[in-house]
Amino acid sequence: MKKQKCIPLFLLLTLSFYGVAQTKKHLDKNKNIEERISLLMKEMTLDEKVGQMNQYNGSWDFTGPKPEGGSEEEKYIHLKKGWVGSMLNVRGVKEVRAVQKIAVEESRLGIPLIFGFDVIHGYKTLSPIPLAEAASWDLEAIKKSASVAADEASASGLNWTFGPNVDISNDARWGRVMEGAGEDVYLGTKIAAARVKGFQGEKLDARNTIAACAKHFAAYGFVEAGREYNTVDMSHSKLYNTVLPPFKAAVDAGARTFMNSFNTLNGIPATGNSFLLRDILKGDWKFNGFVVSDWASIKEMISHGYAKDGADASSKAAIAGSDMDMESHLYVKELVGLVKNGTVKESVVDDAVRRILRVKFELGLFDDPYKYCDEAHEKATIGNKANNDAVLDMAKKSIVLLKNDTNLLPLKKSGLKIAVIGALASDKNSPLGSWRIAADDNTAVSVLEGIQKYKDNKLMYAKGTDVSIGEQLFVQELKINTTDFSGFEEAKKTAKDADVVVMVLGEVGFQSGEGRSRTELGLPGNQQQLLEEIYKVNKKIVLVLNNGRPLALPWASENIPAIVEAWQLGTQAGNAVAEVLYGDYNPSGKLPMSFPRNVGQCPIYYNNYNTGRPENTEANVFWSHYSDVEKTALYPFGFGLSYTTFKYSNLKINNQNPKKGESVEVSVDVSNTGGYDGKEVVQLYIRDVAASLARPVKELKGFELISLKKGETKTVRFTLTDKELGFYNNNGEFLVESGIFNIMVGGNSNEGLISKFELK
Ligand code: BGC
Repeated sequence: MKKQKCIPLFLLLTLSFYGVAQTKKHLDKNKNIEERISLLMKEMTLDEKVGQMNQYNGSWDFTGPKPEGGSEEEKYIHLKKGWVGSMLNVRGVKEVRAVQKIAVEESRLGIPLIFGFDVIHGYKTLSPIPLAEAASWDLEAIKKSASVAADEASASGLNWTFGPNVDISNDARWGRVMEGAGEDVYLGTKIAAARVKGFQGEKLDARNTIAACAKHFAAYGFVEAGREYNTVDMSHSKLYNTVLPPFKAAVDAGARTFMNSFNTLNGIPATGNSFLLRDILKGDWKFNGFVVSDWASIKEMISHGYAKDGADASSKAAIAGSDMDMESHLYVKELVGLVKNGTVKESVVDDAVRRILRVKFELGLFDDPYKYCDEAHEKATIGNKANNDAVLDMAKKSIVLLKNDTNLLPLKKSGLKIAVIGALASDKNSPLGSWRIAADDNTAVSVLEGIQKYKDNKLMYAKGTDVSIGEQLFVQELKINTTDFSGFEEAKKTAKDADVVVMVLGEVGFQSGEGRSRTELGLPGNQQQLLEEIYKVNKKIVLVLNNGRPLALPWASENIPAIVEAWQLGTQAGNAVAEVLYGDYNPSGKLPMSFPRNVGQCPIYYNNYNTGRPENTEANVFWSHYSDVEKTALYPFGFGLSYTTFKYSNLKINNQNPKKGESVEVSVDVSNTGGYDGKEVVQLYIRDVAASLARPVKELKGFELISLKKGETKTVRFTLTDKELGFYNNNGEFLVESGIFNIMVGGNSNEGLISKFELK
């Protein structure tokens, strides 16, 4: 990871005193927040107001192209003048306090800064990447994971995370699928709410909670061809049904901030899109927090061809409702002039400033700007045992068992000779993923280390091959190894006489994430060759996958007896994998994204449309299919095995002819029919068979994660209401239409018990 120089502390401390604060009536805690904001805004000059809309990077970590301007000197001067509302990437109590001190003690009005940071799946102690967490379908665990992240980030001086990412995406080529909750809007909506609640807790002004930021608004997950920062063009029906619900859920859960997305949506950049920001977010949804641009996304409206220069971009972004400028450095330069020459109304600036100040008041920053700055608390919190226990728990819950044909798993705890193969097996960096800015390099427990804790088996390790060559950097393109086969022979020798071979293959940590789109979804480099070579000498292979996106692995799926999807599981990755391999934890994860057979199927998703020719009824080529590969997913959405087995029976619907407005109860019995206690995600799908807009072949509308002891049966009940049965049309109107609804209840999106009812 590339770290830039931070602001020299001595410089901060020697900066001269700029002026004394004015009346400070806004500091009266007995007044309500809106009144306090009004009192403060009365004191503010136009420059100071625009200053609140300006965010600077603390230069710790660049997470985008290096911006123009924003020199260290400019930052100090602007901080002292009160022309900065927020800093990003300043972290650690010492640094945060030093910068906050300038804003609070040296600027005229002493308005505290809000400190933002990408706390995506943990701060220093990392949880699994968000896509992996989504595989748990465990909302309480996901909420807890976000609260652990907030606990550490707030202890380190931060009060605002740029998360959660609630972008729905069904294209595994796009590197940022690792940051979201996958392809499904229903699951994604529940997870969005859980994450917001986890970050923000019960009280925003508590010391261990931080403001959440729902991003990227909107439709970034649908960039064409999965190519990063690409164009998005979509129907309003899709926007309303698929993209917007998780954002709405974030607002309903109390998310205090939103972030723009980089893409255009139907020709208009999201950053300058008043339909998204003013009409929907701040209008229909009555969101009263603030919107931050994405990194330089205001300026990028010029490259999009939507603004002619910086001034034009600033006025378009501000008027559309982007309240804070991240790393374009344009608001601070242009907005005062734009207000003075009448291009932007002062009321636009006032509205943005009120929103920003509101969140600062809610965080309690005016009452104690240093409340997150306690070194002793920082030391006691970061990396403590409770946080490590929590991320381990989350990691186990995120693992998905994809195949276990000959019951190769779980492994016996003694008497085995185990060969562990693959560079990723000993990799302590990759499990941290690519969004791990505050975590120290090489701090994850590797799979090898995890397995080594089970001491009564004999372990042998061979790397076999490297995935990438050279240093793995945060901001640079990886060099993937396709040429060096020198480790193959040793790996084959190691594997030959083993009772079982555990192969850890997949992507290195920096191969998914922002700026990391791929056009191949197989095992990178020469890992597929390694897998096939090892298979020639020993077929008893457990393939443990490490990856930040769905991979296309048809050969492995056909030949390898056991496959475990272990994603990038964070700090405790290796311990979690070992517990699952040895059966101390019975896996219960289910895929939050379809896994394709090959990249050509992308985007592939379970809730597709039927088309006019869904089946091959006349044995000719004129139906919707590929000539070279099946059109179905290799592993469908919602799929995941357990060491035990589950049987579904007794599907019942309480009302065959409900009227609109009435609810329908669906119940099913689920039994644990195997040899282990286990957990199952019971999933309910519907299909609206005929409607005024064609509807998907299946839509998830309910799920429940249940625990079942061996031999136990439970009845699971779902309630369907107009909310689940209706949909948005292309005018954004929500319609509930009468007709037949098919129902399917099962353990994945591909199979289950079926029934139907007719809505009158
Ligand atoms: C990303 C955002 C992130 C921001 C700040 C951007 O490049 O798109 O998700 O929050 O950088 O690091």
